[in-house]
Amino acid sequence: MTRTITFANFKGGTGKTTNAVLFAYTLARKGYRVLLIDKDPQANATTFLLKTYLQDHEEPPAFDRYMLDGVKAGNLKSTIVSIRENLDLIPNTPTFHLYPKFLQKKFPGMSMQAERDRIFYFNELIDPLRADYDFILIDVPPTISDITDAALAATDYVLLVLQTQESSLDGAEVFVSYLQELIDDGKANLDIVGILPVILKADSRVEQATMQNAEAIFGKENLFENHVKTMERIKRFSSVGISNDDQHDHKVHNLYDAIIQEFMERIAELEEE
Ligand SMILES: Nc1ncnc2c1ncn2[C@@H]1O[C@H](COP(=O)(O)OP(=O)(O)O)[C@@H](O)[C@H]1O
Ligand SMILES: [Mg+2]
Repeated sequence: MTRTITFANFKGGTGKTTNAVLFAYTLARKGYRVLLIDKDPQANATTFLLKTYLQDHEEPPAFDRYMLDGVKAGNLKSTIVSIRENLDLIPNTPTFHLYPKFLQKKFPGMSMQAERDRIFYFNELIDPLRADYDFILIDVPPTISDITDAALAATDYVLLVLQTQESSLDGAEVFVSYLQELIDDGKANLDIVGILPVILKADSRVEQATMQNAEAIFGKENLFENHVKTMERIKRFSSVGISNDDQHDHKVHNLYDAIIQEFMERIAELEEE
């Protein structure tokens, strides 16, 4: 059974892409077949994974088709790039900002049906890919937009990345009620698999206050027990790609092994209900 996971947060720049890529890498390393779809015109996940590919190869992979080419052709298969064993990517470029315009042209008008067609077109495109993967992970832009809505319409689970630097958690409840609205309108059928805290400075008071607020708002059971820590090596991965050689690499991979184990347990629990 394929699960489609979208990485989201309440504010931009909080580690969505980094976590989408590290989840994809770790799940693939554990033997799951993974596709990461880069749906952000900033294409950070694409750059991140192409650099990871270059960790094992002299030359970049040969490809000349991106997300938008597949969307226009009505077939995403020809845009898939293999990064490592079990890990594929649908790459993106800044031209993807034309995606909402393309959808407007393909499904014109203001009717409810046209709006639904625009939102669900992406879901239709990934349907034929589902059989090939255990996990399809989607990295989205930092704002709520047509691009994000279409990703959520195709999503089974949202993973919320919470940077604990912001004590107020402004936007958190708004975002969660936005998800609920999509569900109520029949535009999404998803669960929140959990809120993954990204700790910037351990032991700071702001962080502790944020965690307490988050527990009060979402319930302790909805927060991952494992936290992502700020690690120089994680930052480095995004500029040189993911490696798995020295002890600093291993420390990151050990952390993500634990996070993925918890992630799998959370999914199993949700699917038991
Ligand atoms: N755990 C971490 N430790 C150190 N740096 C991190 C960590 N997570 C993210 N970063 C850095 O923070 C910046 C923003 O992360 P990114 O994943 O691109 O956020 P988003 O996709 O939400 O905009 C990047 O430079 C990234 O390398
Ligand atoms: Mg990003």
